[in-house]
Amino acid sequence: MQIKIFPNETELALTAADIFEETITKKPNAVLGLATGASPVLTYKELIRRCKAGVISFADVITFNLDEYCDLPRADKNSYYTFMQENLFGHIDIKPENVHIEDGNAADFEAECKAYDAQIAAAGYIDLQLLGIGTNGHIGFNEPGDAFTDGTFRIRLSESTIKANSRYFTDSKMPEYALTMGVGSIMKAKKILLIATGSAKADAIYNTVNGPVSPHCPASVLQTHPDAILLLDEAAAARL
Ligand code: GLP
Repeated sequence: MQIKIFPNETELALTAADIFEETITKKPNAVLGLATGASPVLTYKELIRRCKAGVISFADVITFNLDEYCDLPRADKNSYYTFMQENLFGHIDIKPENVHIEDGNAADFEAECKAYDAQIAAAGYIDLQLLGIGTNGHIGFNEPGDAFTDGTFRIRLSESTIKANSRYFTDSKMPEYALTMGVGSIMKAKKILLIATGSAKADAIYNTVNGPVSPHCPASVLQTHPDAILLLDEAAAARL
């Protein structure tokens, strides 16, 4: 696991964008795994800037998002579908048919999860996977538990995640379930980039780097990935 620590979020985002640029330049039809939350926003802004400046193109890029809430209309302001349109897809030259996000409203969620895994496999798996991290060490919505998860599945969100994310749900109730890529799907990515900023992430980062590889801190599995890079600010790296 490579660890890079930055004095501010802007420099961190420039490095993250450089890694995306390198991946897309080498392979214009790269398969990208994308994340939501506050952590990737500045990186997405920089990718939009580079796309508008003609430095990179997403015309042949394929994307798979990590996760989506269940029982929340796609058009809801808090859906990850809306988040991705607003923070990235609506501003770049990606083809809508190349964008994949789980359907959290699927009537048969097991079939939806299986189909999602099949689409990732058919695309040749993920070249570059972007991750944030929950304060409890979750990646995607893989909450701490007794075993590492494998493919895409439906999860009941933990109390700590509901508490952390309910700040966004000012006019509606926060969903209790989500569909998420499993740890197994994430680990199949050729390269993994995890972004963490702020002191609230310091314990999760400590456990990710120095803790045992354990499903009680799902991100700790990255210790066993051959090409995982952690991009941290000083506050998130404070306990290292
Ligand atoms: C959410 C998402 C994760 C994200 C995490 C951290 O629960 N499902 O993919 O990494 O929260 O979010 P933030 O970056 O806003 O701290």
